[in-house]
Amino acid sequence: TPENGIDAWLRYAALPSDIRIKHKQLSRIVALSSSETSPVYTAAKELQDGINRILNQQIDILFATTIVTSTIIIGTVASFSSAGGNAQEIPKLKEDGFWLSTKGETVQILGQNERAALYGAFEYLSMLAQGNFSQVAYASNPNAPIRWANQWDNLDGSIERGYGGKSIFFKNGVVLDDLTRVAQYARLLASIRLNGAIVNNVNAGYNLLNPLNLKGLARIANAMRPYGIRIGISLYFDSPRELGGLSTSDPLDPQVIKWWSNITTLVYQVVPDLLGYLIKANSEGQPGPLTYNRTLADGANMFARALKPHGDGVVMYRAFVYNHHLDESDWKNDRANAAVDYFKDLDTQFDDNVVIQIKFGPIDFQVREPPSPLFANLRQTNAVIEFMVAQEYLGQQSHVVYQPPLWKTILDFDMRIDGKSSIVSDIVSGQRLNWGRCGYAAVVNVGNDTTWLGSHMAMANLYGYGRLAWNSSDNAVDIVQDWARLTFGIDKTIVDTVTKISMESWPAYENYTGNLGIQTLCDILYTHFGPSPGSQDGNGWGQWTRANAHSIGMDRTLSTGTKNSGQYPLEVAEIFDNIETTPDELLLWFHHVPYTQKLKSGKTVIQHFYDAHYTGAETAQTFPAQWAALKGLIDDERFEHVALRLAYQAGHSIVWRDAVNGFYIAKCGIPDDANRVGNH
Ligand code: GCU
Repeated sequence: TPENGIDAWLRYAALPSDIRIKHKQLSRIVALSSSETSPVYTAAKELQDGINRILNQQIDILFATTIVTSTIIIGTVASFSSAGGNAQEIPKLKEDGFWLSTKGETVQILGQNERAALYGAFEYLSMLAQGNFSQVAYASNPNAPIRWANQWDNLDGSIERGYGGKSIFFKNGVVLDDLTRVAQYARLLASIRLNGAIVNNVNAGYNLLNPLNLKGLARIANAMRPYGIRIGISLYFDSPRELGGLSTSDPLDPQVIKWWSNITTLVYQVVPDLLGYLIKANSEGQPGPLTYNRTLADGANMFARALKPHGDGVVMYRAFVYNHHLDESDWKNDRANAAVDYFKDLDTQFDDNVVIQIKFGPIDFQVREPPSPLFANLRQTNAVIEFMVAQEYLGQQSHVVYQPPLWKTILDFDMRIDGKSSIVSDIVSGQRLNWGRCGYAAVVNVGNDTTWLGSHMAMANLYGYGRLAWNSSDNAVDIVQDWARLTFGIDKTIVDTVTKISMESWPAYENYTGNLGIQTLCDILYTHFGPSPGSQDGNGWGQWTRANAHSIGMDRTLSTGTKNSGQYPLEVAEIFDNIETTPDELLLWFHHVPYTQKLKSGKTVIQHFYDAHYTGAETAQTFPAQWAALKGLIDDERFEHVALRLAYQAGHSIVWRDAVNGFYIAKCGIPDDANRVGNH
């Protein structure tokens, strides 16, 4: 059915007739490209289909190379000029930027390149679908050139941290025959202006590199190219040894270098517009350059040099390098230090087509983290920020947790590099340090479920990611309102309800899971899902809370702790190093304090825990009733689907509340002021 979720925010639901009739009759789309693989062609078809569905107007497409009378013209600025169009009014566009004008007789949708024309078409359709017929003329340019999705799909069809079905790319070790869903996915990605996707898991094997799968890779690229999405792949560092039969995978060994160079040639033969490679190495048991006593830069540069002769391919080298057998008995040990420890001194050593991919926080997509200090420790090496649309630690898509407000805490943070304004979004956009290849990546765990993520509400995170990667100053409320109108309908009750639940969701989740920067207190050993505050400590993963009978938190200070605060530039380091100036929400991230430590709110740490868990669970328990207002306003299919998950979340929030509060009262024996929490 059209309501099963496949079209997500591209449903193009018919506008109510009283709104629809206010739009003038459109007669013809002129598309300045007739190649079926061109995003301009895709855009013309999308416009035709969307206008039919939204406005109930049937409209022809004319593929032309000269300007003829039309009501919509779609193409690149260059093709427009050479077709005789007057492009004087159009400001100079950045790569992937577009011009949209709905003023005058003809709607102009003109991209800096073909992909950008498609972005403009989606923007125009988004306006129409929201019943917005205003007269506008503006250029829209991206924050940053790299705006990618990372799939964590395995060749056997499973998805690492996937909660929405099986892979749309792979099954039984090979690329799927039917790639319909891949094209539909590319359509979604293009509509949020992403321009690339890494199609296989960072924990990669080498089987993608066999001849059959390389052909399959070509089919994936072909399915996504009409949407302007280029693809890249994750590589397994030890492939030369394990697949190539060499005696080593040493990145400085000439045979290894040659092996990767040959492989790269083969990959480019099937995917001539390859984005590049994503590398996870020396992380969580994966081999890497350190295995061969080489530096991380040696490893990254080997791939960079294999790519170089073929075009603009980049190596995305993940900063997620750490020792997962860390000794907790040593109070100086700290996983949060790893990225800077490993990468800072290599800053001058990476080739120019290496980009370091940095998770937004120092640990691992927790409910609350400060920004990774590595964002302030690279000057010459370009970087991207890595988000996780997949809600691995955030309720795994059976809880609503709308992430843009969380991401904004990172993007809006001022790192004060050299005492100057250094907003994280300005760093990753390249503005602050004059970088060229930088931007955004996000782990996206779409699967073959018709809802893509297993939950309709979770799709706001994918939509929001694209919006922020394009324009990080977009507001989290505006984003979810647009998404709600496009996904569920323009009715005010719908928009207000979806917005309210979404905006309350991350604070609620933080309240009923882990507070004050202690991290998501889920089971970290196996599921990463339900509550298990005891699982953080007593193992080598380094997500420690150091909770004992009297005190809790990681001492990351310079004087007595792990010195992690000192990895931030001076002004920020001073704030985090001092209990008085550390914001409450990060107190236990940076400090080890007694449970009776007073917060700025005047409450003790332990009372805050108790209260927050009640408040958070109470909020989650309002979600089903809030949602009930939408009965009859949206289709029953999606209404019931969401209702079921919200009921689950409401109940699970109570499980969380009682498990976490029960754990801490047992540990410290300090009673709850309100007498709710007990050992009963
Ligand atoms: C998390 C996640 C792993 C993943 C890893 C990564 O730790 O649990 O499944 O492989 O991140 O980002 O590489």
